[in-house]
Amino acid sequence: MDRDQLLRELTEFLRIPSISTLPAHNQDCRAAAEWVAAALRRIGCRDVQFLGSETHPVVWGKGPDVPGAPTLLIYGHYDVQPPDPLAEWTTPPFEPTQRDGRIYARGAADDKGQVFCLLQAIAASRRPAVNFRFLIEGEEEYGSKVLFDLLKREPQRVRADAALVADMSYIAPGWPAVYTTLRGLCYAEITVRTSKTDLHSGEYGGAAPNAHEELSRLLGRLKGADGKINIPGFYGPVKRPSKAELASWKKLPFNEKDFLNKRVQGKGLVGLKKASVLERLWALPTFEIHGILGGFTGDGAKTVIPAEATAKVSMRLVPNQKLATVEGQLVAAVKRFAPTYVTASVRFLHGADPAQIKIDTPAFQLLDQAFKEVTGRGTVPARAGGSIPVVPALASAGAPVILTGIGLPDDRLHAPNEKLELKQLWDGIEVFRRFYELLGSQEPGVRSQGRDS
Ligand code: BES
Ligand code: MN
Ligand code: MN
Repeated sequence: MDRDQLLRELTEFLRIPSISTLPAHNQDCRAAAEWVAAALRRIGCRDVQFLGSETHPVVWGKGPDVPGAPTLLIYGHYDVQPPDPLAEWTTPPFEPTQRDGRIYARGAADDKGQVFCLLQAIAASRRPAVNFRFLIEGEEEYGSKVLFDLLKREPQRVRADAALVADMSYIAPGWPAVYTTLRGLCYAEITVRTSKTDLHSGEYGGAAPNAHEELSRLLGRLKGADGKINIPGFYGPVKRPSKAELASWKKLPFNEKDFLNKRVQGKGLVGLKKASVLERLWALPTFEIHGILGGFTGDGAKTVIPAEATAKVSMRLVPNQKLATVEGQLVAAVKRFAPTYVTASVRFLHGADPAQIKIDTPAFQLLDQAFKEVTGRGTVPARAGGSIPVVPALASAGAPVILTGIGLPDDRLHAPNEKLELKQLWDGIEVFRRFYELLGSQEPGVRSQGRDS
């Protein structure tokens, strides 16, 4: 198919503002699910179903049965993160625009462009001997609850010889990667209440407690200026990567100065000084404040002592940490650090366990070969800082989970001016087309895991 036609199809998908976390966009999520369903039918799925939810359904698809051939489960997500701050977008987030060999839109790289790539690679191939299964969900950016519930009811949906997840990036231009870990996530709101109502800061100031001040102090206790997280027990299960792994990271095309100047574009980095930047990004847990609500933030000036303040925070978790344990640790720490005259509470919004993936199964070699043939370089093993909630469940279902992607590190996921390089897309289609062919032409050895189990 010609590239202009492909870009028109991708543009249609990117135009849909399928923001899963905002209820006002429920209909849009539904429309994106319909787009995925139609795309699956176009590439030959006769069995396409919406599972689990009216508003953010999991789109399930089953390609033609090829008896004796390996089963490949393709996972992706059609939902996106909110596009704000809108004023910082050069062109609007849901009006996909091509400039300088890139397509700019929310979801271009995360993950609609990559879902499109995986599907298009099937359309471009000559019916490889692969049993394709698809699980394209609409709640990845909000914790994947619908999908978790579905997998509890119907674990057989993810039975496969390999699962392919393309929701990440190369580690540098020209350097495709496969990922051995994902961080987990624990997302919460911490609310502090100090009085029944707001109070005049002249009448009461100096003696009445201030919710924002108490919240700031509490947050400052949870994580110190040295970057250390002071939640008791938090670092307990955290293991340092092996010497060999740390040494292998030194050979990756990653430069701390470039990371600061070209990617962060700030004046300095933070975090635990004794750890390298990659270690901080990949192998250490985090505590981030996403936003603080409450008090007076309107135009002008108002002299008031706020009675309540809420911080949206999240912690990234690394292998061996457990979401359920960390939730308990956060509640205990908040209780311990809040003074007795303050009512502090924690509400959990969503989360994910960290994932650890072995990359020594044959399917990884086939992907490596496909990348090598198409891009001139095979995959390097790396770790990922981000999270994909369903991956630990996929991995424990038995099939090797291949975490890879066609994005680049500067795609600006979740941020203004998200983009996908068109060269990455065209190469990606070739890479996955080749991967499917290699997988389909394998001796049964590839099917060493996950079958009939
Ligand atoms: N595609 C990302 C995950 C990702 C990003 C992995 C970069 C590796 C590198 C995914 O869509 C994502 O953003 N996940 C959320 C999950 C959360 C909301 C539960 C995340 O990591 O914040
Ligand atoms: Mn994603
Ligand atoms: Mn994302």
